[in-house]
Amino acid sequence: MTIGDIYKEVLELFRDKFSNSYLEAILIISLGLGKSKEYILAHQEVELSEKEIAKIKGLVEKRLAGVPYAYLKKEKEFFGINFFIDEGVLIPRPETETIVEIVLEEGPFVNGLDLFCGSGIIGLTILCKEACQRFIGIDISSKSIEVATINAEKLGLLERVNFLKADIRSLALEEDFDLIVANPPYLPVSAWDSLPQEVRQEPKEALLGGDDGLIFYPEIAKIITKNLVKGGLFAVEIGKKEQVDRVKEIFLSYNIKDVRVKEDLSGLPRVIWGRK
Ligand SMILES: C[S@@+](CC[C@H](N)C(=O)[O-])C[C@H]1O[C@@H](n2cnc3c(N)ncnc32)[C@H](O)[C@@H]1O
Repeated sequence: MTIGDIYKEVLELFRDKFSNSYLEAILIISLGLGKSKEYILAHQEVELSEKEIAKIKGLVEKRLAGVPYAYLKKEKEFFGINFFIDEGVLIPRPETETIVEIVLEEGPFVNGLDLFCGSGIIGLTILCKEACQRFIGIDISSKSIEVATINAEKLGLLERVNFLKADIRSLALEEDFDLIVANPPYLPVSAWDSLPQEVRQEPKEALLGGDDGLIFYPEIAKIITKNLVKGGLFAVEIGKKEQVDRVKEIFLSYNIKDVRVKEDLSGLPRVIWGRK
């Protein structure tokens, strides 16, 4: 069997499953063979070994069962940087880059706090771009802390970051920060059943923010009130457009008055931010 033969087979299997089935087929074959997409396209006549065929078929089966590509590749690009990603942690989304954009425009900073850090992408990207000197990342999940630490090591940033396993709801940090970023779980619990099968492979606790999706915003507001220095920057991701006014109200009720909104690349309001 050649690359061209398996490509046709995979394409047939993927046709009804993915809207971009051509790309999905090439990606999975390139992952199975450890070769670039360009190589797959240019070497359709190359014969495959039994082992290579079995590897590709195994990946195809998992992909058809709804396992996200990032979990198979164990990698996802965020802001031009490749991060290690594993099952049990949220897969970084491009819209979260909006937080980094604000920080790069407003920085540099000295001491950053990344609430709900997941795989560590926000804080680590900001450190890579030299927009902050050091970061603390907080997450409730041990798996996230493990993955974030691997990413810090990969990027040579271990000495400038500290990842702590803790529940934001009972966080008692005494330190002051001049930068606080957060991408909390913000989907209403009722949204779970209608999420695409692929998204439901990601951890529920990384996505769901209570009945209205808003349970974590008062907690974030409390931390901004207590731990952000005067003049410090906060940037917090939100989900739906309808959450803008609700989150603004929550922040105002904690006397956080400078509350601005930044849109993501799709033109949707995505980040509530301001200076204390
Ligand atoms: C939307 S994800 C964000 C992950 C990462 N910052 C990103 O942008 O890809 C939310 C994260 O919050 C964590 N989390 C959920 N509840 C938490 C809590 N009570 N305290 C701390 N972290 C929590 C989850 O484990 C998950 O990693």
